[in-house]
Formats: sequence, C-alpha cells, structure tokens
Amino acid sequence: MDHLLDICGLRIETRRGGGKAMLLDKVDLSVKKGQSFGIVGESGCGKSITANALMQLLPYPLRVSDGTARYQSLNGEKELLSLPAEEIRGLRGREIAMIFQEPMTSLDPIFTVEYQMFEALSFHNKRIGKREMHERALEMLRSVKIPRPEQTLRSYPHLISGGQLQRVMIAMAMLNNPRLLIADEPTTALDVTIQAQILELMNGLKAANGTSIIMITHDLGVIAETCEEVAVFYAGQVVEQAPAAELFHNTAHPYTEGLLRAVTSLDGDRADMGRSTSQSEAEAPHQNELYTIPGMVPPGGEWSSGCRFRDRCDRAAPRCAEALPALCEIAPGHLCRCFRTGEEVEAR
Ligand SMILES: Nc1ncnc2c1ncn2[C@@H]1O[C@H](COP(=O)(O)OP(=O)(O)O)[C@@H](O)[C@H]1O
Ligand SMILES: [Mg+2]
Repeated sequence: MDHLLDICGLRIETRRGGGKAMLLDKVDLSVKKGQSFGIVGESGCGKSITANALMQLLPYPLRVSDGTARYQSLNGEKELLSLPAEEIRGLRGREIAMIFQEPMTSLDPIFTVEYQMFEALSFHNKRIGKREMHERALEMLRSVKIPRPEQTLRSYPHLISGGQLQRVMIAMAMLNNPRLLIADEPTTALDVTIQAQILELMNGLKAANGTSIIMITHDLGVIAETCEEVAVFYAGQVVEQAPAAELFHNTAHPYTEGLLRAVTSLDGDRADMGRSTSQSEAEAPHQNELYTIPGMVPPGGEWSSGCRFRDRCDRAAPRCAEALPALCEIAPGHLCRCFRTGEEVEAR
C-alpha cells in the first residue's frame, strides 16, 4: 500500500510563563492509502493537537516547532505544516475532512443543515447548482441512514438529537468525498448503542469510498471496532505502535496493558478483544467493575526525566528513572518504548 501521509519528527510547543513547554515530542506516523489508523491514549496525551497541527488549526500560543507532514494530494505531494493558508483551505473539507466529539463545534446553530451542507459543497465547487447540491446533500444524509433526510435538511442543528447530529457531521465530512477523514473522539459523547452504530457506519463509508481514516480515541474498544494500525500516545510521545491484531494479542507496553484493562466493550461488558487468556483477566476486578490506571497523565511539558510512565507503572525499575527508553522495534512492525520489552526480546 502507498503512503498517504507521513508525519516525521513532529514537535509542538506552547508558551508558558516566561518560557516554552513541549506538548508533543518527536512523533512519527505514517498512514497508508485506504487505511484506518488509530491514535489512542488518555486525555491530555497530545492526540488532538496532533490532528489540529495537520490542518494548521493549532490555537495560539501553540505552534509546531519541528517536523514535517508530507501528504500525497491529488495534485502531488504537499507539506501540510508549511502549506500557504490558501492551499490548506483548499485541502480542508475537500481532500481532508475532520469530525469532532462535539458536533456543535463545526455546526452553526443559526443556519439550517441544508444551508451548511450547501456552503461546504459550493466552497470547493463554485459551479455546482442548487438542485445538484440538494441531491448530493440528500444522498449523503441517506448514506448515513438519517431516517427523514428532507426534514433534517430543513432543521436547525439544535433541534436534532446527539446521535443524529453526529451522523449529519459525518455526512458533511463525506460530502466532497475526502481521501482522509480525521475523526477526533467522534463517538465519545454518545451512548454505547449509538456509538456502535456510528462506528459501523464509518467502517461502511470507508469501505465504499476507500477513504483513509485517522481515528482518535481514548478507548481501545473503539480502536478494536475500526482500526488496522494503532499508535498509543502517552505524554506527548508514541509509546507503542503495531497493527491492531498484534497490539491486542501481543500487548507490550505497560501503559497499553492498562488501557486494555480499562476497556468496556461496546455492549457494556469488559471486552476480551479476542484474547483467549488470561493473566489480566485474572487480575482484573469483577467483570462490571471498571479498572482505571492509577495516577494521572502529567500535564503537557511537565514530564519527568526517564520513562514518562514510570510513576504509574507497576513494573518500574530504578533505571526507568535514568533515561528515556527509545521506541524500539520488538517484532516486525511492532514498536514499543519500554526497557522491559527490549530485554524480553533479547532473551528470546
Ligand atoms: N490551547 C491550549 N493551550 C495550552 N495548552 C494546551 C492547549 N490545547 C492543548 N494543550 C495541552 O496540550 C496537551 C495535549 O492536549 P490534547 O492534544 O488536547 O490532548 P488529547 O487530545 O490527547 O486529550 C495537554 O497537556 C493540554 O493541556
Ligand atoms: Mg482530544
């Protein structure tokens, strides 16, 4: 498969007090054409700023301080981070679309859905007529299984329920048939049944249109439903990356293990993610009791030296305080940032 997006050495910093604080620290990611790529981690690990940086949507005073993001557009390779404003606007919403946890961050309450869908269509296609826009908008609402599409078109966003609104958002994102869809916690605000329907819908659209997806979530359950490749973020870095099946079956980083134990499946039970074991099952509390990883993600830039997860890791050793572990390939295509796994591989 060809690469669609190659992020290399991405660093994001912010101004804090009189100095600077690093929020994202040398992240490398590659998304292939047609692939669904998951970014997972707890709140505050740097998932959203990564996505926003790609679209040049970082809020001041955050800024990209290093790195490149090469995107293979229909008109050749573009470096997203340094693309002139006009060019990035041309890509945004057409080749690359974004959807967010909160639909009202992208929808305007004072305009009808139809008006906003027409805006999105005509922005990238100046010659499109009203009738054609209407047909296209209806077609998209049908494709996301909105029950009364004509009525929805005439509605104002605040009159539409959360689950339906998220469908409208997806329809709007797919209007111009994007090649890359960045979905930042698209189902986090929804209850589990609707969440499952929306994820299934996104999988269907991806399969039908060949769209690549970057799925951002704090929930490995969402990753299991949607993603082929996964990067686990912790404190502004990738700590583990692998194809999804490999990540779930041969979980290597203690942080990923913690996230896995904290998952509830989409029908409300603990998910087993297809694992036949196990150790974590035995250690886990009663089925319906939710496990949470002790401690908290350190605030951006306030990372201890050494392994950034060590304060929360039940397997931390003295040397974990001495140096930051490198992201090492521990099996083909499987990367992990932990001294312990590096050793286990050597011992094999
Ligand atoms: N506008 C902002 N100003 C200052 N710090 C920010 C801002 N947005 C995000 N951050 C910080 O950047 C880090 C990463 O945030 P974010 O990407 O939103 O995390 P995630 O999406 O993984 O929950 C956090 O430490 C957060 O506090
Ligand atoms: Mg976020």
